[in-house]
Amino acid sequence: MCGIAAVILADSLSSECVSTELYEALGILQHRGQDAAGIVTCGQKGRLYQCKGNGMVRDVFNKSQLEALRGWMGLSHVRYPTAGTSSNSEAQPFFVNSPYGIAFAHNGNLTNAQELHDFLDFEAHRHVNTDSDSELLLNIFANHLQKTGKFRVNEEDIFSALQGVYNQCRGGYACMGMIAGFGLFAFRDPNGIRPLIYGERKTSKGTDYMLSSESVALDALGFVNFVDVGPGEAIIITKDGLSKRQCCKPKEFTPCIFEYVYFARPDSVMDGVSVYRSRLAMGEALAKTVIRKFGQNKVDIDVVVPVPDTSRTAALQVATALNIVYREGFIKNRYIGRTFIMPGQSLRKKSVRRKLNPMPMEFNGKNVLIVDDSIVRGTTSREIVQMARESGAKKVYFASCAPPIKYPNVYGIDMPTRHELVAYNRTENEIAVEIGADEVIFQDLQDLVESVSQFNVNLKNFDVSVFNGCYITGDITNAYLKALADFRSEVAKDNRIKFVDTDVIGLHNSFQKE
Ligand SMILES: *[C@@H]1O[C@H](CO)[C@@H](O)[C@H](O)[C@H]1NC(C)=O
Ligand SMILES: *[C@@H]1O[C@H](CO)[C@@H](O)[C@H](O)[C@H]1NC(C)=O
Ligand SMILES: *[C@@H]1O[C@H](CO)[C@@H](O)[C@H](O)[C@H]1NC(C)=O
Repeated sequence: MCGIAAVILADSLSSECVSTELYEALGILQHRGQDAAGIVTCGQKGRLYQCKGNGMVRDVFNKSQLEALRGWMGLSHVRYPTAGTSSNSEAQPFFVNSPYGIAFAHNGNLTNAQELHDFLDFEAHRHVNTDSDSELLLNIFANHLQKTGKFRVNEEDIFSALQGVYNQCRGGYACMGMIAGFGLFAFRDPNGIRPLIYGERKTSKGTDYMLSSESVALDALGFVNFVDVGPGEAIIITKDGLSKRQCCKPKEFTPCIFEYVYFARPDSVMDGVSVYRSRLAMGEALAKTVIRKFGQNKVDIDVVVPVPDTSRTAALQVATALNIVYREGFIKNRYIGRTFIMPGQSLRKKSVRRKLNPMPMEFNGKNVLIVDDSIVRGTTSREIVQMARESGAKKVYFASCAPPIKYPNVYGIDMPTRHELVAYNRTENEIAVEIGADEVIFQDLQDLVESVSQFNVNLKNFDVSVFNGCYITGDITNAYLKALADFRSEVAKDNRIKFVDTDVIGLHNSFQKE
């Protein structure tokens, strides 16, 4: 999972640089990736400037570098660590100089990467230098655009090149690119799995536009009139304004539900749904499941405690709906910075304790319902349950705002392989035993879907493959999943010691490369 943002000013002769705005946008999207960051801008005479590197946004750029990123349009990227993107592999945006000079940034994951790699190698004769899907997408696009063979590109050429991209590329992807001296383009996969939104800002010189993974970045930079890019839709923004086109027949619109559960910021509005409101609804529904599980009058819970930060919103609503006290029993250590994580459970445990500190007074002698957004490996959950017990809790119940995660994600969320998922081949009781809780309560899948869909009549289905194993793109075979698992365990072997940034979203090291 990654974050992407692009800005184009109406005034191409402006003395203002877009780099400071892109830098700010990346800071706001930092929760979507802490592994690497990059900005590419385009200035006078179509000259491109770039700066990218590994680390947090604040570490990658300094003042003089931002000043050197001149220009009136640009794009930017923050990368999440996924299997295969080792820290010395290249940060985005990527760039190809032919045709026209194209910079490109992408969020998501392709499911036919190998096929595309072979095509570029054997047929298109384009060199691909990294393992990143983004480089594949860029080269497929460049290959289609090259075929027009023109001295100057026009919008029609770009739209038809994008049709070619849609024909060839499968998976979940939200992309944005910049053609030197010409403008920006952006597109979203045919199922709209990964998010993409744009907005405008009126100035005395005309209209500035901005594209982003999440609306919060548009908000912060004063953009308004947000529009989500539709599934299979592409847009082009130049000095002459914005045009858009349906570049492939839209398939079923199934955005990734994990954005709402965990990934996106609560103050974002995604595909017309407030992430915050959807989390409140998840809490409301989860409370009903708690009552179903315990029986109407037998809910023996004294206090509801969230695992900070994501689950707070839902946990508060669980407490309100159950009419039970809500307490912040765990406090997050905010500024611990980078930690060396070594392989092996005991050290992983230690890392949870460094991030969370329990307040014994809130647990002592009580039956506690701990609420988290999801349970992935279960190692974090187990440690949290243990901390609650050591703090004197009598009974510890553990509730998850998401249903049991039983399948890997292939559309851009980095999740462990099936065998590492605690819910894999286990019943709820077995999961409770595994994490040391007295009971676990999982959100019902239908309830989760309705927690989001109730806010937008056009949203009926989502990508929920991690819960039910139904992969919407229809091309995921067991062989593919097995290859993915093998690849990950190979990568795991290669990465004995690693850094994990703990101070932004930190706690969810269950999703990070550990
Ligand atoms: C900014 O970073 C660059 C590259 O690391 C370095 O050469 C430069 O001296 C830094 N500038 C400042 C003002 O810190
Ligand atoms: C996407 O998945 C493939 C494995 O199928 C992996 O090689 C690649 O690095 C992943 N991530 C990105 C951002 O390309
Ligand atoms: C599921 O777990 C049972 C034991 O609980 C084990 O016998 C079985 O082999 C497991 N199945 C798979 C597919 O892992």
